[in-house]
Amino acid sequence: MAGDVDQGTDREEQPDPGGRGLGGPPSAAKRGSWITRALAALAVFAVVPVLAFGIKYYQDGQQLKRHEESLKILGAEGLFLFSSLDTDQDSYLSPEEFRPIAEKLTGITSPGEFEEEESHDPNGETLVLEATMQPLQMDSMTKSKDGFLGVTHSSLSGLRAWRAPATPSSTFSAGQFRVFLPPKNKHEVGDTWWVIPSELNIFTGYLPNNRYNPPPPKGKEVFLHSLLSMFHPRPFVKSRFAPQGTVACLRATSDFYYDIVFRVHAEFQLNEVPDFPFWFTPGQFTGNIIISKDASHVRHFHLYVPNDRPLNVDMEWLYGGSESSNMEVDIGFLPQLELLSSGPSTPPFVTDEEGRMVESRGPEPIHFVFEDIHWTAEVSQQEAQRHLGVTFYPFKKVSYLPLPEAFERAGAEHKLVHSIVLWGALDDQSCSGRTLRETVLESPPVLALLNHSFISSWSLVRELEHMQVCKNLVLGQKAQMHLEKYNFPVEMIVALPNGTIVHHINANSFLDETAMKPEEEDAAFSFSAGFEDPSTSTYMAFLKEALQRAEEFMQ
Ligand SMILES: *[C@@H]1O[C@H](CO)[C@@H](O)[C@H](O)[C@H]1NC(C)=O
Ligand SMILES: *[C@@H]1O[C@H](CO)[C@@H](O)[C@H](O)[C@H]1NC(C)=O
Repeated sequence: MAGDVDQGTDREEQPDPGGRGLGGPPSAAKRGSWITRALAALAVFAVVPVLAFGIKYYQDGQQLKRHEESLKILGAEGLFLFSSLDTDQDSYLSPEEFRPIAEKLTGITSPGEFEEEESHDPNGETLVLEATMQPLQMDSMTKSKDGFLGVTHSSLSGLRAWRAPATPSSTFSAGQFRVFLPPKNKHEVGDTWWVIPSELNIFTGYLPNNRYNPPPPKGKEVFLHSLLSMFHPRPFVKSRFAPQGTVACLRATSDFYYDIVFRVHAEFQLNEVPDFPFWFTPGQFTGNIIISKDASHVRHFHLYVPNDRPLNVDMEWLYGGSESSNMEVDIGFLPQLELLSSGPSTPPFVTDEEGRMVESRGPEPIHFVFEDIHWTAEVSQQEAQRHLGVTFYPFKKVSYLPLPEAFERAGAEHKLVHSIVLWGALDDQSCSGRTLRETVLESPPVLALLNHSFISSWSLVRELEHMQVCKNLVLGQKAQMHLEKYNFPVEMIVALPNGTIVHHINANSFLDETAMKPEEEDAAFSFSAGFEDPSTSTYMAFLKEALQRAEEFMQ
């Protein structure tokens, strides 16, 4: 499913779920934001701190001491700048780590240090990729409603300045695209694999926010980094929050070609020193490549940010110099960000009828004719996208349909509509120790029950508002019934196929119900037989109650 992004804040119109009143901007809705991520974000973000532990750890006392000394010497802001350069966090700057500062002061960019050009074949085919973008629509941001009140000008400077791709056009060799080829054991259409695996796990949590420059990419990241660099000079091939990485799916095969669909969870950091970091996180990048099985020829390449939802970019920016500094969050709409091949890859030389080598891109460029590709096995584009989605988000093992379709299907199959509605303020780092709940939608019993008795869907509040005033009166009425029950930030709703809501629960209440006391937490983590975490059983109870109420309605 494309466009898995949402969330925004609207403190003017929405109650403050944290009950904090009019605190500073970053404090608002801390808890709500977490819930958003915990439950719905599973569905909704490309980047979610699934393992958001907020654990601050220093491997040993020595490091702690060094940290304190540095703080004394540099002060908080100075230390922040230093740490943001110190990508391996060893409290020493290597020449590589110092490079951004050197480049800034001297104005000289060092030559392609990221290019890991393994034995470039001068006779290999090359192709040209063209980058196009339409900048983020500033008025799509919630903060634009109050004229960006309280947002310092410098915070948004990187965003405002980013009006065009950094490199509109660039030539690549076909062989570089071999990073997308399937591994040996993946040759059936529909197979998926990790091109760039996620490195986040329960111990690493999420990556820090207080950085300006990406760590040097390695392995297959190098090529992806150079592709994303065409948009902006500071792409982070791996997003801070899980699920990060790049997944590919074999969509179709012929005797000579693969059509491979991919999905990338990457982000950009838009600001430069002395402004604080600004994170620009598209819901996803997706696209496809048609490539010969030996990677000598690329027929077509396309990479883009889906724009089929009214909001498709998550933005977070820091208001201070440390990892625990306040953050501001917003969402917005990016109409276009894409890379497209200008044509198939071509060789630098061809032999003419007399066997002479002729330069193909000489004064009289040669016109190439390419044979049609006949796929011998394939799955649909949609099916491939679904496989990618499930690989990133296990909860998607049950399909989440657009709401109108969900109502239709539920009617046809005599099921209920399980619908999640989100707006969600979000900030960050507020989610210590609540990881269990994040698994609720992907827990096996919930998946099984949803699969058996429900048709699932999720929608943005903004989408429902559009639906409410659409020409289709029946659908408009259903959207209205949804909105009547909606409470900030996330509402889980169960409805009959005709739109009548039989049960609903707000994510905040859900959290309260499942909140574990510390002593219970220990118990929950023990390996007792038949263990089921409280969030799973609470959600099961919610769904079962809905089924029961629906039965009463039918009588
Ligand atoms: C859903 O149910 C169908 C048929 O009842 C089954 O084939 C499929 O594996 C189930 N999927 C999940 C995720 O449980
Ligand atoms: C939907 O169907 C139920 C059960 O037949 C009925 O009680 C309810 O009034 C209907 N709602 C609407 C909006 O038609």
